[in-house]
Amino acid sequence: MTTFPKNFLWGTATAAYQVEGAVAEDGRGPSIWDTFSHTPGLVANGDAGDVACDHYHRLEEDLDILARLGVGAYRFSISWPRVRPGGRGPVNRPGLDFYSRLVDGLLARDIAPVATLYHWDLPQELEDAGGWPHRDTALRFAEYAGLMGEAIGDRVHTWITLNEPWCSAYLGYASGVHAPARSEPAAALAAVHHLNLGHGLAVQALRAVVAPTARMSVTLNLHHVRGVSEADADVVRKADGLSNRAFLGPMLEGAYPRDLIADTASVTDWSFVLDGDEATANQPLDVLGVNYYNPTLVRRWEGDGSRETADGHQDGAGSPWIACEDVEFVRQPGPYTEMGWNIDESGLTELLLRLHRDYPDTPTMITENGAAFDDVLGGDGRIRDERRVDYLHRHLTAVAEAIAGGADVRGYFVWSLMDNFEWAHGYAKRFGIVHVDRDTMERTWKDSAHWYHDVVSTGSLPVG
Ligand code: BGC
Ligand code: BGC
Repeated sequence: MTTFPKNFLWGTATAAYQVEGAVAEDGRGPSIWDTFSHTPGLVANGDAGDVACDHYHRLEEDLDILARLGVGAYRFSISWPRVRPGGRGPVNRPGLDFYSRLVDGLLARDIAPVATLYHWDLPQELEDAGGWPHRDTALRFAEYAGLMGEAIGDRVHTWITLNEPWCSAYLGYASGVHAPARSEPAAALAAVHHLNLGHGLAVQALRAVVAPTARMSVTLNLHHVRGVSEADADVVRKADGLSNRAFLGPMLEGAYPRDLIADTASVTDWSFVLDGDEATANQPLDVLGVNYYNPTLVRRWEGDGSRETADGHQDGAGSPWIACEDVEFVRQPGPYTEMGWNIDESGLTELLLRLHRDYPDTPTMITENGAAFDDVLGGDGRIRDERRVDYLHRHLTAVAEAIAGGADVRGYFVWSLMDNFEWAHGYAKRFGIVHVDRDTMERTWKDSAHWYHDVVSTGSLPVG
């Protein structure tokens, strides 16, 4: 039987724009995702997060589901435009009150609040002023972090500054498949830097006001990059630099990797990095958040055959892989989830062991892992999502293997608590362990939720 450490943090995760709805209520301002999803043709089926899971109005019901699941922690995100609609200027009291109620509701149920400050919903006004490629956004982000620290910092267990800055920078500003739908490679690298800087400034701002016991973290979607053969080592290095070390370097080592700067020299001279910025990005972290869905396979592009752009988060369109003209992203063997992502948990073990080797003093936590499948609600009201159970079982086994190999992994959060707005894919892709009926908003536990309940209450995986 696979058993996890005694204080292992078990949780589920969501993000504000994907679940809350109530986009124009109680003083919330528009974010880049409101703009994006209301631009015809950008989101599948014309879906938008206007209602999402109506979580804003069903807070108590959803908190009760978490309590019945028995999780020890809940990872949610705060909508910046709900608490400070323009990203600067006046603060919106009802927005702060919502998150204060959320945190109190979790604590009353003995669930540790894990708060993400930025899960992609930049106030539209800040994008209009230049967005993440613009240095000022990092400064506004730090102000917002301090504001949230003042409001709920006495009660939050772990702070996650950013969720997947890779997506914000490259999908938002290079391939343009995410908000704000810009395709400007140089701007995307400037966004990378201002996200790193914003992270460091936010940790400083939080530390100054929150409870001394609060943990500081950031969530990265690290790519476990493999080459087809030994001969592909250089393209592996390049993809790893752009996707992983562009963030790990400044945040955990206080410097951008030299090879990344050289690889991207034709795109930018990185002059937006000012003296002291890398040191600012490099704040001590209590735990590094890792989101993992599948590995990445590359080989050197030889200029023949069909070349795929695979990023795990987009289907075609432009490439988020800046200055990677010589890198081919290779489709991996199945099975696949409904997203078309291959299922291969071995990458998770290897990734966690690598992080342990490179950063032995920084524990890790899986802040997202999960799968979309085409779930069917049976006539008996049951949702037999055995493929999701299998996916979660495999990946938790992979986490246990990393722990057995010496990695200091502190927790695991299933993505997601419930079916929600899957960004450019709209509502068609269901990642929840709890099913949400799009017409009635009724929540129904899938088999995976029952399974996860047993896992979190025993701290171990069932045999078989
Ligand atoms: C590809 C997979 C790849 C994944 C992540 C998908 O689009 O089909 O082969 O592993 O992206 O890179
Ligand atoms: C994001 C989630 C998203 C999930 C599945 C992660 O990139 O943080 O918001 O729903 O992956 O695509």
